[in-house]
Amino acid sequence: MSVSSRVAIVGAGNVGATAAYALMLRGLFSEIVIIDKDADRAVAEATDIADANAIARPARIWAGDYADARSADILVLTAGAATHGDETRTSIATKSAAIVRACIADAMGAGFDGVLVVSSNPVDAMTQVAQAASDLPPERVIGTGTLLDSNRFRKRIAQQLGVAPGAVDAMVLGEHGDSEVVAYSTVRIGGLTLDAYLGKQTFDRAAIAHDVMRAGYAINHGKGYTSFGVASAIVRICEAVQRDERVVLPVGTRVTGQYGIDDVYLSLPCLIGATGVLRVLTPDLSADERTALLASADTLRETLAGID
Ligand code: LAC
Repeated sequence: MSVSSRVAIVGAGNVGATAAYALMLRGLFSEIVIIDKDADRAVAEATDIADANAIARPARIWAGDYADARSADILVLTAGAATHGDETRTSIATKSAAIVRACIADAMGAGFDGVLVVSSNPVDAMTQVAQAASDLPPERVIGTGTLLDSNRFRKRIAQQLGVAPGAVDAMVLGEHGDSEVVAYSTVRIGGLTLDAYLGKQTFDRAAIAHDVMRAGYAINHGKGYTSFGVASAIVRICEAVQRDERVVLPVGTRVTGQYGIDDVYLSLPCLIGATGVLRVLTPDLSADERTALLASADTLRETLAGID
């Protein structure tokens, strides 16, 4: 790792500020710059986070502008429209796309040339919009995608089994949204499939899959937005890139023929290193999961086609 490392966070809303705070606590970067069109908000969040830096590795945290993104290793894009209550993520696609395009134009205009991590919703479409607007190689443009849903899925299985979430390998694939594929076939606990682990025990798999898919809505109802879960997904991707971890995470990537799907951003297990997505993996899925994944890709194409 170089002596100084910089992450630029675009958007000082709930997700951007939480990601900046978590990145600071994790000590991954020596420089964290927060960029927002509301400069007062960016200054306030940066100052508040800097006030907490005494308990973590020293970092310079400030409210900057796009010129500061020029030398960033990673740019995290959190800016976009927000959903409320039962509004679907896709209903804000056109509004978010305009914001995403404007932010990317400014970042690229300033000379940004690193890895781009996108969490703006609807995240799959917005990652695709950001990649197109940036003209960065697709492997360097990663969406938080279903990393968050996968962590929610791991949590729910862990609760059912009475084990730690970290003991559960499990992935949600496809769209981060209503068409997501909660892929039970990917579940492993100590190398055992879910069936093998459970033996004769059962639980309502469909109900859990539904809860995982609805988790964001449920949190939205309670607090008006979601932040910690998605910010942690941002942190995990930044960490994998910054440390060249070569870890496998289900994240949003532009698929190029996997499962017969082409040219759309959705989540599949990706090998992540310093230059972004190094390889996209295609685990064996059940026939139902494959069908659902194709349907999810169709949904995403419709979302993209509906953006002005
Ligand atoms: C959620 C938002 C990030 O699911 O879409 O929490």
